[in-house]
Amino acid sequence: MSVQDLIATAQALVAPGKGILAADESHATIEKRFQKINLANSETARRDYREMLFAAPGINEYISGVILYDETLRQKAADGTPFVELFNKLGIIPGIKVDTGAKDLANCPGEKITEGLDGLRERFKEYHKLGARFAKWRAVINIADGIPSETCLIANAEALARYASLAQEQSIVPIVEPEVIMDGTHSIDRCEEVSSRALVHVFNKLREQRVRLEGMLLKPNMILSGAEAGVHADIRSVAERTIKTFLRTVPAAVPGIVFLSGGQSDELATQHLNAMNATFKNLPWQLSFSYGRALQAPALKAWAGKPENLKAGAAAFARRARLNSAARLGAYTAEMERT
Ligand code: 13P
Repeated sequence: MSVQDLIATAQALVAPGKGILAADESHATIEKRFQKINLANSETARRDYREMLFAAPGINEYISGVILYDETLRQKAADGTPFVELFNKLGIIPGIKVDTGAKDLANCPGEKITEGLDGLRERFKEYHKLGARFAKWRAVINIADGIPSETCLIANAEALARYASLAQEQSIVPIVEPEVIMDGTHSIDRCEEVSSRALVHVFNKLREQRVRLEGMLLKPNMILSGAEAGVHADIRSVAERTIKTFLRTVPAAVPGIVFLSGGQSDELATQHLNAMNATFKNLPWQLSFSYGRALQAPALKAWAGKPENLKAGAAAFARRARLNSAARLGAYTAEMERT
């Protein structure tokens, strides 16, 4: 393993003004997205949709890396060019989702454990040969009465750390994603408490497994009120709570924090990121995005599965990427949404 390569890749992924596109939906998840536009989930449809995003004019100004699903890493664009080749030409780093999904955690009703460690070293070797230089593993942490348990937090932290150490061994930068889910009626205080507990366990386990913090990225949720809460914290409070939580739990050696959007609207996800970058200067880590839905939703809507809308879909994606790039620098304004 070349530690310098890992560090260089991690830093390139959070280069100023740039962030990550999460386009690693499993077949089941992309099917749900396609259902919204009444589109059948075929391999060609998945290819056409993703090619529209990847080939959108100018996106390499705003997008540093793309997280792919296994099928897409091996797929070719309509003209026969492998997607990996397209990314390499654009200077965009290909990444791969390697977990095999969140399953029920035995003895812990309502809680999940992410699977995928078996055979992971061999899979990393193959993914590296195919061109992937970073990876993602997502842990799912639900909030409800008496949930999450310490059992769930520790089991997921352990799996994240085992994954991250294997990724680094194979010269792949791990994105470590402990997602505290926003569904529920909980307050922002409760989100802060649960997220803090989760992050403490994650960094303890990363240390135990000797993961190089300089060669990884953290992909967390923002500290938000539950989606069905009676009162929703405003943008400034979300920014302050989120940064306060990370200052307490995320070591300064980590080069970047790349947020998931988690079901926030595309505009709100941009506003929150912008508020953090505009308000807090000289933080130890870059604050960036690794959005799935918040980057793709407008593109999916504009495209609607119709070939004649490919240009409009690509333009909608490039626009959202540009606005999030501005939010990376704290330079986003509401005015930009209107132009
Ligand atoms: P969302 O931004 O839609 O939450 O997706 C990001 C992601 O990759 C979740 O694992």
